[in-house]
Amino acid sequence: MLRNKDLLDLESLTAAEIKLILDTAEAFLAVMRRPVPKVPILRDKTIVNLFFESSTRTRISFELAEKRLSADIVNFSAATSSLSKGETLKDTVDNILAMRADMVVMRHSASGAARYLADRIPAGVVNAGDGMHEHPTQGLLDMLTMRQRMGTLQGKRVVIVGDIMHSRVARSNIWGLTKMGAKVTVCGPPPMIPVQMEEMGCTVDYDLRHAIEGADAINVLRIQLERQTVQTFPGNREYARLYRLDDEMLAATKPSCFVLHPGPMNRDVEITSEVADGRRQVILDQVTNGVAVRMAVIYLLSGGAPENLGENLN
Ligand code: CP
Repeated sequence: MLRNKDLLDLESLTAAEIKLILDTAEAFLAVMRRPVPKVPILRDKTIVNLFFESSTRTRISFELAEKRLSADIVNFSAATSSLSKGETLKDTVDNILAMRADMVVMRHSASGAARYLADRIPAGVVNAGDGMHEHPTQGLLDMLTMRQRMGTLQGKRVVIVGDIMHSRVARSNIWGLTKMGAKVTVCGPPPMIPVQMEEMGCTVDYDLRHAIEGADAINVLRIQLERQTVQTFPGNREYARLYRLDDEMLAATKPSCFVLHPGPMNRDVEITSEVADGRRQVILDQVTNGVAVRMAVIYLLSGGAPENLGENLN
């Protein structure tokens, strides 16, 4: 069982909770391969998707996961809501909950927004990305994809490349992977690497060619120009010259080493099209796994018992 009503981050999950979510997601992947990829588990639940920031993958993935669990869904768009008339986040949510929603999935540009909400409402909150803090379901789907390829995360070397400073995906990967026994190296230009990386259990390498020697997996992050309040690097061309993953670099890694990217990709900035479309990438597997991970998270947070899963899926 999960200990909390919410999934806000991977920092506060135990290794056992992460394993439970990943194992449950594998069961839901099997459901997704059925001719009718739907189960009636959450027929009595209503889930509100609150997206205050743009999203393609995460929003569609949560919506699909909820539909495949047979929940009722309400989608909220910040642009067309009364937020634009000055209503606070708490008032908006109180109104939505007065309509008897059972769970809220929220993406917000402010770090800590999911915690703020979770502390004020009785419904479960799932963080779909809050500012530069965490994106826990992305971290979980990345770990599921890596576990499928490698069999285990224990002792595996994972390199996370890019703008670690502004990346909620990096933080969720680091917390989750290190709890599961992986060895994590972060790599990027010095201004994009925060100071507390060693405290989080990672090693730091500023040289991509060196960092990926002996790596089992490389998670390439998007350069997030929209979150950079000061320019931390001379520009995309300079970034690409030093940190873009290309076929030549990949050829020098272990033959089993594979490449992840959370999307959306800046092709030819952090990754070449040859790598992004090549045989060593697992980017669309990540997207498929994302639906299963979100089904698992929603199932478990809704009180679904792991021991009843088999019976619920029949
Ligand atoms: N990976 C991810 O969060 O993508 P979106 O911003 O499209 O949801």
